[in-house]
Amino acid sequence: MLNLTGKNALVTGIANNRSIAWGIAQQLYKAGANLGITYLPDERGKMETKVAELVQPLNPSLFIPCNVQNDEQIQSTFETVRDKWGKLDILIHCLAFANKEDLSGDFSQTSRSGFKTALEISTYSLMQLSGAAKPLMTQGGSIVTLTYLGGVRAIPNYNVMGVAKAGLEMSVRYLAAELGSQNIRVNAISAGPIRTLASSAVGGILDMIHHVEQVAPLRRTVTQLEVGNAAAFLCSDLSSGITGQVLYVDAGYEIMGM
Ligand SMILES: NC(=O)c1ccc[n+]([C@@H]2O[C@H](COP(=O)([O-])OP(=O)(O)OC[C@H]3O[C@@H](n4cnc5c(N)ncnc54)[C@H](O)[C@@H]3O)[C@@H](O)[C@H]2O)c1
Repeated sequence: MLNLTGKNALVTGIANNRSIAWGIAQQLYKAGANLGITYLPDERGKMETKVAELVQPLNPSLFIPCNVQNDEQIQSTFETVRDKWGKLDILIHCLAFANKEDLSGDFSQTSRSGFKTALEISTYSLMQLSGAAKPLMTQGGSIVTLTYLGGVRAIPNYNVMGVAKAGLEMSVRYLAAELGSQNIRVNAISAGPIRTLASSAVGGILDMIHHVEQVAPLRRTVTQLEVGNAAAFLCSDLSSGITGQVLYVDAGYEIMGM
């Protein structure tokens, strides 16, 4: 049975009730996990208020600001986890960012700074958070990140984020190889397109969703909660033999040739 009772799970990437991380947090909670939530702080504290209100029914025992571009915030996040929880079992990396102007038009025109920003936030952060989680996963652990098909195929407008996701998927393999001896598993979920804050920045996202609804084997897209179910599985002992993998939760779209 899927049971996460007694597991401490740190979930990044909740911005609102459309966030995939919100779907994941709900399913981890349902399976019995003790949750810690991080959010991206802004100057006026709006995000903090909004996310705190949203996650309140899940009773998180930690609620921490963590901008992955800020080394001090990352360090203090994991110090808090160490001091309050003692050990960490689950890390959900569910965040990404690219400038809107780099998510449409010609890929060849991506700016140097846009490339750096996208790769730093969306790709490098997995390494950084995993490195910080490693000493706290003293009883083994599971790290799950979110990727998209645009990391292996050229999808219109996904552009620099496709490069970021390709790097992310390769990072999953290198991290799995490094952390396996500590019984820490690292996997990615490749989700089908879902309307969220992040995906709305990708040019033509609604067309992508409609295309999937027409051609995916299940003739629909997927929900945040379906992604959450797959994440709960990957975080549980039911997936104890699985690491370094990319699991498609996309209504089957990835298998189609046309
Ligand atoms: N929505 C989709 O169609 C889809 C499909 C496949 C994969 N994904 C991936 O799922 C993940 C979550 O995205 P989402 O679609 O739920 O959108 P979302 O906008 O709800 O979540 C993105 C999160 O990234 C966070 N973030 C951005 N910059 C950050 C920073 N510097 N530090 C910390 N957090 C930061 C935001 O605060 C937000 O919570 C992303 O990795 C995305 O690429 C999304």
